[in-house]
Formats: sequence, structure tokens, C-alpha cells
Amino acid sequence: MYSENRAKDVMLFAKAVLSNQLARFAPVTYMRLTHETGRGEEEQTPEQIAAYFTECFRDYHRQLGLDEGQFESFLKAKQVLEYGPGDILGVALLMYAHGAAHVDCFDRFPLHTASEKNLRVYETLLASLQGPARERAHAAFVEPSKPGSGFNPAAIRYQVSADGLSGASKQYDLIISRAVLEHVGNLDGTVRDVSAALKSDGLSIHEVDLRSHGLDRYQAFDFLTWPQPVYRLMFSQKGFPNRWRLNKYRDLFARTGLHIRKLEPTTCLTPEQVARVEPHLSAALRGASTSELSWMGFWVILEPSQRQGA
Ligand SMILES: C[S@@+](CC[C@H](N)C(=O)[O-])C[C@H]1O[C@@H](n2cnc3c(N)ncnc32)[C@H](O)[C@@H]1O
Repeated sequence: MYSENRAKDVMLFAKAVLSNQLARFAPVTYMRLTHETGRGEEEQTPEQIAAYFTECFRDYHRQLGLDEGQFESFLKAKQVLEYGPGDILGVALLMYAHGAAHVDCFDRFPLHTASEKNLRVYETLLASLQGPARERAHAAFVEPSKPGSGFNPAAIRYQVSADGLSGASKQYDLIISRAVLEHVGNLDGTVRDVSAALKSDGLSIHEVDLRSHGLDRYQAFDFLTWPQPVYRLMFSQKGFPNRWRLNKYRDLFARTGLHIRKLEPTTCLTPEQVARVEPHLSAALRGASTSELSWMGFWVILEPSQRQGA
């Protein structure tokens, strides 16, 4: 394991193990204490948060190489599944507004809340839309135009389930997630869930953030050098990164019958940065090439393999 200060690492270990037990036995208390929203710690205005969701929505159609109008045609009557929406169903609202027949959101943690601030985010999103998209968005709530009345389950449904899995079979045309797969405790189970839940002509788009989420101590990516059992004791229940690298994702996609239509990195570490941590990697994480190790995140578009072969 990479270290520049053993005493500091031992203290960090002890604190992290304690908070991991709190998250395990009292997850709701843990979420309250840490004020988890899913979007990091920075305080943002409702307008900034609404702009974030608008950007997330745009990223999905840019990834597909479609403009907004083309994406609306694509979304028409589609069944959409989003994993890990966080505390605000902003992307779900925009998917529904722009034509999706229905959006199901699944999360492992009960983050979704109708706080005053979150309701203002929905109001800001409603005000940002025009024409038919605006009408559809207003109709997504139990009382049309009133986010405080909650989402109409015929439009958008939010469910907390074991491991955040849908358990669905060939039900969805589009399956999405952003900044989620790197947090799931059971990545094999989630990728299997994607594969099972996708219709044979469906598509799945994910943005995966492979960065340390504040866990690096001295060098970039040194969080990858904690031995796996030690890392689990510290972080397994808190939704922290699972640390899996690209080789694991490629292997899981292949094993679960998902063909990679498109795969590209967001940003990469320099070769010098990779060289500093590569010799110290946790044994469980070895197997990624030096180039795969340098990826700090990626976008992937998946489709069922049998369609690709057809
Ligand atoms: C970093 S947040 C991203 C939230 C949102 N997608 C966004 O971009 O703002 C990670 C989300 O993944 C959720 N999550 C963690 N483990 C999960 C799992 N196994 N299945 C589904 N969601 C999970 C968390 O509860 C949280 O909502």
C-alpha cells in the first residue's frame, strides 16, 4: 500500500471503520449527518442545480450524437430506467417532459426528498421548458404544476431497493446512470440487472467517475492501494467508490451479454502519475493495463450483444 505517513493512515482507518458501522446499522442517520445529496458537498442555488440537471439531460443526447429534436423523437413512448438519481429526480423529469412514456428510478439509498429547496429546483426546471415539453413536465405531478404534491407514479416512480436493483426483465428501452456505477457495492449484480432489464432493441448509457471522491491521501489514485479487505471495512456501506477499473467493466459487460457500442474516457492521469501508484495497487485491482489505469472516468453506451450480432 502507498503511504507517506503511517500514523495518519491508521487514524484515518479507525475513523472510517466507525462511520462505516454507523452507515451499516443506521443508514438514514448516516445520510442525515453527512447531508448526502448525491451531488457532492458544495452548496448550490436551485438555479445552479436545475442547470446541472439540464446539462445532464443534454449529455445523454450528445452521447448518442442527437440534437434535442432528434432525442425527443428517440424518447417518444420509451420506457426509461435511471439508477441512482440522488435527492432530486431532475433528469427523470426532463426525460418525461421530452417524450419518455415513463421513468423508473431505482436507488440503494433513500436520498430523494421534497425539501423546499428541491421543490424550487423542480419549479425552475418547469419554468425553463417550453411548448409540449413544458405541458408534459407540468403533468408529471399528482396535482399538475405542483411539485409539492409529488410525482404521479404513472409518469415517474422512485423506488429504493436492495442493492438499488430493478429486478426487471426486458422492460426498458433506455437505461441510464450518471456518477452511480462507481458507487455500487455489487457491480456484478447491477450490470446483470442492466442486461436483464434492457429490451432487445434497447440502449444503456452510463457516465462513470473513476476519481477518488476525496479519498486520495498523498498522490492521485493512491486510494487504489488500500488492500481490498481493509478498504471494505472502511467504506463498504457508505456509497463510496467501489474502485473497480475499466478492465472489470469490460469483463462484466462481455459476461452479461452487453456489447459496447461506444466507450470513451472523460480525462486521464499522466503516465508519471500512474507510474507512482501502479506498483502499489491492491491485489484485487490488478489486471488493468497502464492505459486503462489512467482513465479518470468514462462514458459508455451499451446494447444487447445478440442485436449487434443480428
Ligand atoms: C454521486 S450520486 C449521483 C446522483 C445523480 N446521478 C447525479 O448525477 O447527481 C450517486 C447515486 O448513486 C446511488 N447509489 C449508490 N449505490 C447504488 C446502487 N447499488 N444502485 C443504485 N443507486 C446507487 C446513490 O444513492 C446516489 O443516489
